[in-house]
Amino acid sequence: MSLSNLSVKALLVLGICLVGRRSLASASEPPKKIAVIGAGIGGSSAAYFLRQEFGPSVKIDVYEAGTVGGRTATENVKGHDYEIGAAVIHPLNLHLKHFVETLGLSPRAEVKTKMAIFNGKELTFEESDWFIVNFIRMLWRYGFNSFRKPGWVEGILGKFMSIYQYQKLGYSFSSVEQLLHAVDADKLLNQTLEEAMLADGFSQVFINDIVTPNTRINFGLNAGLNAFVGVVSLADGTSGLWTVEGGNKRMSAGLLELSKAELIQARVISLKTSPSKSGAAANLYEVNYVGDSGSSHSLYDIVIIATPLHKGLSDISFSGFSPPIPSHFPGNFQQIVNTLVLGKLNMSYLGTDQKASDFLMSDILTTDNKALPFNSLASVGPVKVPQGYALPPASESKVWKMFSARPLSEEALGAIFESREGVWVKPWLAYPSYTPPLRRTPPFVLHDRLFYVNAIEWAASCMEMSAVSARNVALLAYNRWHGQTHKIDQEDLHTRLRGEL
Ligand SMILES: Cc1cc2nc3c(=O)[nH]c(=O)nc-3n(C[C@H](O)[C@H](O)[C@H](O)COP(=O)(O)OP(=O)(O)OC[C@H]3O[C@@H](n4cnc5c(N)ncnc54)[C@H](O)[C@@H]3O)c2cc1C
Ligand SMILES: *[C@@H]1O[C@H](CO)[C@@H](O)[C@H](O)[C@H]1NC(C)=O
Ligand SMILES: *[C@@H]1O[C@H](CO)[C@@H](O)[C@H](O)[C@H]1NC(C)=O
Repeated sequence: MSLSNLSVKALLVLGICLVGRRSLASASEPPKKIAVIGAGIGGSSAAYFLRQEFGPSVKIDVYEAGTVGGRTATENVKGHDYEIGAAVIHPLNLHLKHFVETLGLSPRAEVKTKMAIFNGKELTFEESDWFIVNFIRMLWRYGFNSFRKPGWVEGILGKFMSIYQYQKLGYSFSSVEQLLHAVDADKLLNQTLEEAMLADGFSQVFINDIVTPNTRINFGLNAGLNAFVGVVSLADGTSGLWTVEGGNKRMSAGLLELSKAELIQARVISLKTSPSKSGAAANLYEVNYVGDSGSSHSLYDIVIIATPLHKGLSDISFSGFSPPIPSHFPGNFQQIVNTLVLGKLNMSYLGTDQKASDFLMSDILTTDNKALPFNSLASVGPVKVPQGYALPPASESKVWKMFSARPLSEEALGAIFESREGVWVKPWLAYPSYTPPLRRTPPFVLHDRLFYVNAIEWAASCMEMSAVSARNVALLAYNRWHGQTHKIDQEDLHTRLRGEL
């Protein structure tokens, strides 16, 4: 067809198409500036994944009001550092494993632990060195429930593992529910762990005696929390748990450096959007912050929020957004006080007549007893130990770590310990209150190019989930920027990708 045969109308259509394509092309240029608010494991891994997606030219600024690492932190006790926030990492936490390898860090040398359960009067279970002894003790008390538990947990975790393949292939999800739906775990948000386990034939006694102590040490609650976070806490009861040599917070520092992000030590106060109009400032977000040198602001194409938008944790006000974005989403974060005591345990407090010099239990979990001042009591080693290091017996003065909902009273400490050389207390607003299960989680997408990493905490809060969410948010930001809708919220990925996986 010659040009003269084309009608004016067709030319116009062609013109529109060309214009359309050109504007599409300009939208495909990489963003110039991205802000990340918060430099915990969520924000620092978001910076790392954003760099991976958007390439070397984009400027990434990370704002941190407190300390890099956030809820991963250490405390110095007589010359040695101890984890005083997030401590243990599961062997299947693949993002964290990848960070440690990529950053040239290493896992701390293995420290042997032994678990016991305390009901406030006596130790109802003590792990033995001998598998067969544990086997018989558990079989005697709880029947086959005990042996079905690992398989039950692994079944759910196994399905969750496909998230890593989906992320590798660039798939992202616009809500926590969609993400969990893709790995067949969304129904777990809707029921309590107790409901899910009872429905699958576990006994109430087993839940009270074995399951609850795990949810109490990990999330400060009994088995009435949502089943997904419940499974995460039960997975912590497996072997092979590890921690980063020198402290888990080293991952955040390393990721910031590797991502070539600029760390801005300042508190973000507010975020503003300009109504869509032509001009240089159109479609940019204005981040207002206060640092040592006073208050200032900067403009960004994309903003990632990597701190919980909850009372007591961050007070960021959002203005000019429609619909409006609240500073605080519904639900509360619960207080968990982490107390380190360097001292000698009072053995009779545990209702045992074992000799302290023979007592090697390291992780003392508790059943749901309101009279107990703590959720857990654990003998812990420092963040750096030589190969072959073993925790000393209870007869020696050593570091014990306790989690409790309230600060421990002088009276309680006096009863638990025979002697104390020092006490270190760190209160955290630790993780969401998961009871009753929240049926709606906050969104990953707060506005066109404004994303929220910590929405994931309402499914489960742990370092790996923050990293999973950070990667999802980086992919989501990239897919939305480049109009790759076929990489967002895809149904039935499992069957569709069977060939590729
Ligand atoms: C006592 C305790 C024990 C835990 N145990 C484990 C465990 O064993 N294993 C595990 O995997 N997880 C554990 N967790 C959970 C884990 O710590 C969290 O899920 C994870 O660290 C959250 O990381 P984050 O980066 O999303 O948030 P945070 O680490 O909270 O990071 C948010 C950062 O944002 C900063 N910030 C806030 N507001 C602003 C603002 N306006 N401007 C600038 N910066 C701001 C904060 O200072 C903070 O550094 C534990 C948590 C606690 C408290
Ligand atoms: C969760 O429960 C709500 C209300 O009971 C229901 O509407 C929703 O479909 C449920 N979702 C799932 C994934 O089961
Ligand atoms: C040790 O614990 C027992 C039992 O709780 C208590 O009676 C005793 O007073 C405690 N000892 C010390 C030194 O506090």
